[in-house]
Amino acid sequence: MHLLQLQIQDFRNLSTLNFEPVDGVNLITGLNASGKTSLLEAIYYLSHLRSFRTHQISDLINRESSQLQLVATIQTDSKNQIPLGIQRSRNKLEVRANRQPVKRAADIATLFPVLAIHPDSYRLITGSPSQRRQYLDWGVFHVEHDFFGIWQRYKRALSQRNAALKSKQNDDYCSLWDKELFDMATYIDTLRSKYLTNLQPYLDELMAQFFKDQEVEVRYKRGWASETSLEHLLKSELHKDRQKGFTQFGPHRAELVIKVDGQSAQTGISRGQQKTLVALLRLAQAQQFTEGTGRNCVLLYDDLAAELDSLHREKILNVLAKMKLQLFLTAIEVEQIDLSAWGEKKKFHVEQGCLKDLI
Ligand SMILES: Nc1ncnc2c1ncn2[C@@H]1O[C@H](COP(=O)(O)OP(=O)(O)O)[C@@H](O)[C@H]1O
Ligand SMILES: [Mg+2]
Repeated sequence: MHLLQLQIQDFRNLSTLNFEPVDGVNLITGLNASGKTSLLEAIYYLSHLRSFRTHQISDLINRESSQLQLVATIQTDSKNQIPLGIQRSRNKLEVRANRQPVKRAADIATLFPVLAIHPDSYRLITGSPSQRRQYLDWGVFHVEHDFFGIWQRYKRALSQRNAALKSKQNDDYCSLWDKELFDMATYIDTLRSKYLTNLQPYLDELMAQFFKDQEVEVRYKRGWASETSLEHLLKSELHKDRQKGFTQFGPHRAELVIKVDGQSAQTGISRGQQKTLVALLRLAQAQQFTEGTGRNCVLLYDDLAAELDSLHREKILNVLAKMKLQLFLTAIEVEQIDLSAWGEKKKFHVEQGCLKDLI
């Protein structure tokens, strides 16, 4: 799967832009504030229906306009071309795939899987556990088709139980959702744990290359103590859950613990190392995606040259060149990125929101 063509209208400073990337590496260069990140952000938005920089839709719509529009053609691995269109105003979102309206964000994510590495990605390590659960669940979602439905059922039961706890309902009432919660939780836990097991060989190989003399550990914690059953905990902790007004244990409290030489990656390594580590977490995920689904995904790497020192940059580019995916890189100068390892490549230059092909 890859992006064949993208027409952008009024996405940040990109007022009208037509982009025809190759199914290899695409290098986008330009001065600061020319619109490089915005271009990657538009591709990301097409897959996730949200940005990696902001939660405010008004940030994304060009200041002179009332709506943004993205019209793309995706080519599947079996060479089918799928038109994809998004129109977003401040209060309305319309998504179409194959000329049909798309109701669920999950459908578009399945059609067009995109991963991103950008200057704020280190927050995957330093930020809240929900970011690491999102990392884990992106992979589970794409590999396990049941996951989305199961997760929706879990979330529904959880919010009903929490509402009952908050309004101090009696034991019987609060326990009405326990069986559904427990059943879904068991399934979610199994899928997450299986995903991490499948991801581990890719992580191990990358970490051995980049963290040579250090031991990097990525461990999954399921959200309740390993020696206890959730079914039992939901009963024994009901009193406390009611006091707190929420369910304390379950997959919504899962965590990915990341350690380097036994020390938490949140505090024990430098920002530079955190950035390298996050890049490797994403690369492993992209590699496992291809293996697990038989499909290719798209990887966006914003400001690669600014994010990594020259040694790590060269090494990461070597890894990327061996991966089967469509890659989008941004840099200020063409010279910062060596593309000699790629066969299929194209260079673009952005200037004040306008795009030019570079020969
Ligand atoms: N909603 C918007 N409307 C118009 N311009 C915007 C909007 N949001 C951001 N910009 C501007 O777009 C320009 C491009 O930003 P960005 O894509 O981050 O550039 P780069 O990554 O090339 O440094 C900046 O000058 C920024 O101020
Ligand atoms: Mg930028």
